[in-house]
Amino acid sequence: MTSAASPSRPFQTIGILGLGTMGAGIAEVFARHGYAVVGVEKDEDALARGRQYLEHSTARAVKKEKLSEAEQAELLGRITFTTEIKDLAGADLVVEAVVESLETKKALFRELDGIVGAETVLATNTSSLSVTEISTANSRPGRVVGVHFFNPAPVQELVEVVRTVVTEEQVLDDVTALISGIGKTAVVCGDKAGFIANTLLFGYLNHAVSMYEGRYASREDIDAAMRFGCGYPMGPLALLDLIGLDTAYEILETMYRQGRDRLHAPAPVLKQMVTAGWLGRKTGRGFYTYEAPDSPVVV
Ligand code: 3HC
Repeated sequence: MTSAASPSRPFQTIGILGLGTMGAGIAEVFARHGYAVVGVEKDEDALARGRQYLEHSTARAVKKEKLSEAEQAELLGRITFTTEIKDLAGADLVVEAVVESLETKKALFRELDGIVGAETVLATNTSSLSVTEISTANSRPGRVVGVHFFNPAPVQELVEVVRTVVTEEQVLDDVTALISGIGKTAVVCGDKAGFIANTLLFGYLNHAVSMYEGRYASREDIDAAMRFGCGYPMGPLALLDLIGLDTAYEILETMYRQGRDRLHAPAPVLKQMVTAGWLGRKTGRGFYTYEAPDSPVVV
């Protein structure tokens, strides 16, 4: 764990590129801690989905009496929703949380060059791509870090802060201090596919899929074994549904390509489910069936 140094300058405005599950969750965390947030999506439909996610998530907090209606309105009022990337011009920190595509991320980091100020810190929420490679698309790679949040971002306490060989020391200190200030625990690691947590977690998740595929045990029993035997909050197959099977597949593929560890060679059924459009909670069907994107297991 990192004891955070005091930041050299305060971050006030946080830009979030991509308001999917992770981006919207990260936007919620920053807005909840009083930051002005600029959330950018590629088109109006995606923007509406991001806004809906935030309204739904904060409404749940109101229902659970964790937030008053006035606080919810204030929180949402701190977020500007836009489809214009140039609206990130005033951001002190930009967190990119778009799809796990190296080309897409690099294109955005290239575009940001002409938009944000020289002092702006650029962060990527990639879970397995090379932060170093993403950073080379920008003219200030020393101001680029990885900030890897966990799903659901408003709940999970960990953020992995990924340093590249060229990340400036002050940027690292500023970002770890910021992460501590939003109530999260920062751990710092180098730029290797999977970082700390996914490297350890995904071998286990993949093994659970192989067990299921080989009909060694039912999905319920595989999940129950890890919940009730090992105290995990969710079983591995339910967790994969939460993460998204497409995301999980991409993470495994990238880690396997880089490390050639057989543990990370994606179980064939995972690819088949992705091809069939069974992506987990977000499509209502994965290892289990769901009525709504964040509803409990139905079937
Ligand atoms: N958004 C916001 N808040 C949420 C949420 C969401 N999607 N899902 C649950 N919550 C909140 C609830 O409101 C509740 O808040 P409260 O304690 O203030 O009342 C709290 O989380 C607990 O939720 P529930 O009572 O509904 O359900 P559970 O107790 O079963 O918890 C869980 C749900 C938090 C998802 C828990 O099962 C859990 O921690 N599961 C493991 C998740 C995990 O391992 N995540 C890491 C995945 S790997 C990853 O993200 C890396 C990436 O690169 C793939």
